Amino acid sequence: MRNLFINVLQIYSLAFIFCTNSVPVLGELQKEFYIVFLEDHLIEQDLLLHQRHINILTSLKGCENDARESLVYSYTKSFNAFAAELHEHEANRLSGMDGVLSVIQNKYHQLHTTKSWDFIGLARNTKRRLKVERDIIVGVLDTGITPEAESFSDHGLGPPPVKWKGSCLKAANFSGCNNKLIGAQYFKLDKRTPDPEDILSPIDVDGHGTHTSSTVAGALVPNATLSGLAKGTARGAVPSARIAMYKVCWQNYGCSDMDILAAFEAAIHDGVDVVSISIGGFSEDYATNSIAVGSFHAVRKGILTVASAGNNGPSLGSVTNHAPWIFTVAASGISRQFQSKAVLGNGQTILGVGVNLFEPKHKLYPLTIGADAAKNEESKEDAGFCIEDSMDANKVKGKVVHCKLLSWGVDSVVKGLGGIGTIIQSEMLLDTAMIFMAPSTMVNSTTGEIINKYIRSTKTPSGIIYKSVETKIPAPFIASFSSRGPNPGAKHLLKPDIAAPGLDILAAYTPLKSLTGLKGDTQHSKFTLMSGTSMACPHVGGAAAYVKSFHPDWSPAAIKSAIMTTATPMSSKVDHEAEFAYGSGQLNPRRATSPGLIYDINEMAYIQFLCHEDYPGASFGPLIGKSINCSKLIPASGEDAINYPTMQLILVSKTGQKNGVFRRTVTNVGPAMAVYNATIRAPKGLEISVAPTSLSFTRVSQKKSFKVVVKTKLTSSAKIVVSGSLIWKSPRHVVRSPIVVYNVQEN
Ligand SMILES: *[C@@H]1O[C@H](CO)[C@@H](O)[C@H](O)[C@H]1NC(C)=O
Ligand SMILES: *[C@@H]1O[C@H](CO)[C@@H](O)[C@H](O)[C@H]1NC(C)=O
Ligand SMILES: *[C@@H]1O[C@H](CO)[C@@H](O)[C@H](O)[C@H]1NC(C)=O
Ligand SMILES: *[C@@H]1O[C@H](CO)[C@@H](O)[C@H](O)[C@H]1NC(C)=O
Ligand SMILES: *[C@@H]1O[C@H](CO)[C@@H](O)[C@H](O)[C@H]1NC(C)=O
Repeated sequence: MRNLFINVLQIYSLAFIFCTNSVPVLGELQKEFYIVFLEDHLIEQDLLLHQRHINILTSLKGCENDARESLVYSYTKSFNAFAAELHEHEANRLSGMDGVLSVIQNKYHQLHTTKSWDFIGLARNTKRRLKVERDIIVGVLDTGITPEAESFSDHGLGPPPVKWKGSCLKAANFSGCNNKLIGAQYFKLDKRTPDPEDILSPIDVDGHGTHTSSTVAGALVPNATLSGLAKGTARGAVPSARIAMYKVCWQNYGCSDMDILAAFEAAIHDGVDVVSISIGGFSEDYATNSIAVGSFHAVRKGILTVASAGNNGPSLGSVTNHAPWIFTVAASGISRQFQSKAVLGNGQTILGVGVNLFEPKHKLYPLTIGADAAKNEESKEDAGFCIEDSMDANKVKGKVVHCKLLSWGVDSVVKGLGGIGTIIQSEMLLDTAMIFMAPSTMVNSTTGEIINKYIRSTKTPSGIIYKSVETKIPAPFIASFSSRGPNPGAKHLLKPDIAAPGLDILAAYTPLKSLTGLKGDTQHSKFTLMSGTSMACPHVGGAAAYVKSFHPDWSPAAIKSAIMTTATPMSSKVDHEAEFAYGSGQLNPRRATSPGLIYDINEMAYIQFLCHEDYPGASFGPLIGKSINCSKLIPASGEDAINYPTMQLILVSKTGQKNGVFRRTVTNVGPAMAVYNATIRAPKGLEISVAPTSLSFTRVSQKKSFKVVVKTKLTSSAKIVVSGSLIWKSPRHVVRSPIVVYNVQEN
């Protein structure tokens, strides 16, 4: 007994010495940032929780000084957690301690880098509830914002709504807020040396956050254009709503989990109505992903989070931000493309895509293939791609260079060597108009071969590239880069949820960066074109705010359901991955204000769903502040155990036969007296039935349940995605749910 006591004392004093002398010894070991989730405590003050965090770290480290030094941030508002800089062995020890639910290592996420509103039917003169719209606050987590941009003028807006509790940080190079941009903060908890171009304030040096914010809720700006292209009135979905910017993304590392969580907590506390986040998720489970965790806490407070699906398409299974409570957005193309024509010396016209803002000064320029301009034999392959340091300036000077695409920025390389411009040959991204800093156009390989053949056919090859023009193309279609399903994070959940314009979108930009950000670019513009699911996401964020202005009391799931069931169906003839590309289809904000019926989901139902997906209940700490024993919950019923507005059945058996039963409950949000009849669309190999086939309602908010049975009889030649649908129709409403069978074709 006595010995043991001495031992404990010695350990304690050792720990104490360790603590004061630890720096030189342990300094060699790499420290990392961790986020530590703790059990929720009832009604605790911020200060008490903060002290508790220090106490936990003190018991780990042995003294309070070290504890305070390692503590990076206390999360005290929406959940009980802290961020700390720790050694790996310390993080491991922490995760075994009493009251510690989960320890997650901090990671860095990446960004998912005028006419679009008319294209989806939200015209300028659309019916609005201005009085309510002015009280809607959209929180944007992004790279910051440009307060001087005309899109953020507060003309005609009164003071912020009374519910607003946020703040505006007036700091370096950031002039402050107004009645449009009512909040602005930045989070950089790692305190790592910022990139020289970064500014520690909410100011946007990248342009991404200015662009997304103005798409969500920018004011009307007439005659917006990028150097004469895409001319029109720029505006957000809800031009009278307010914007709160939470800057979490930085030039050097990206957007860290710690900062994203802190921003979610702030946004929830500040009183935002919708969160729009165009930042890459990770395809990992929902209890360790900061966007999934932050958005779950938002949902608990009635706030919908809209997020981008990712730009890793068209490969299957690439969708991110796919938690059931997140609104996951794919990117579609609108009916306009920016083409830039080239003419070869033999008179042949070549068509390419891209935004080239330069008028040619001469009639023709000498033309060469990158590989022919190589420095030497060894650099020939690199020179074919016009990679930096691979070409000889003497062979490039004054010429147009034909390059194959490997990475962005070849226009800058060629121009840097005194070249005129580039014709870039690519197999990918030919639906996206990249902006160039020297005369350039992007062509497919068929066209590229024509150019090669021409160059080989003459001693003096020449060509010219013209300024881009707008052309009309058939639309909508899903952008090639837009991430596709199936959902890698949940077997029974169709993702993405919805499609919205994300190709060549014109919106506000920052004066602090050139149009391309490439070396040598001197082009600047108040508005620019950007592409990405990043640009699609704020369209849906804005649409959600628009729907909320009609129905301020609707739950996040109800708003999401309204937008999904009223979406315009898209065609699997255009997009072969069908719902895995576009979810329920192209959003239609105007119809979404009157969906007739909604599929609602509450917080506990998400947990039941995760249990059904075989999530260990012990991992739920970051979501609900405690662990849960799944076997003690009432199991949710049906194939997917969630009242989702879409249905997905996975077929893995080789025989191609499986039955799935889906159980759903709809809530009447249309007229009190209404009868809805079911229409089933089932392709060959699918038998879908619904019971009952008719739902009669006698009052508003009334709920009715039904059952959908899907029987598959697919042959081995069946497609990977087989789509049907269930449509509830009343004389005034059409409520559509896609039903997808994922035919896993493995051997
Ligand atoms: C930011 O402000 C500082 C001090 O006023 C100034 O020197 C600097 O040029 C500004 N940076 C940018 C990018 O405007
Ligand atoms: C927009 O441009 C048109 C013609 O280019 C001009 O007539 C009009 O006055 C401009 N409107 C504004 C508000 O500047
Ligand atoms: C390549 O581009 C040209 C010009 O736009 C087009 O006519 C042709 O169909 C394209 N070829 C392929 C294989 O996509
Ligand atoms: C969960 O509850 C079940 C049934 O009550 C019990 O058998 C099981 O041991 C519990 N699991 C855990 C991890 O507590
Ligand atoms: C729904 O079905 C019932 C019974 O078949 C029919 O009387 C009614 O007209 C249908 N309503 C609609 C809107 O199609």
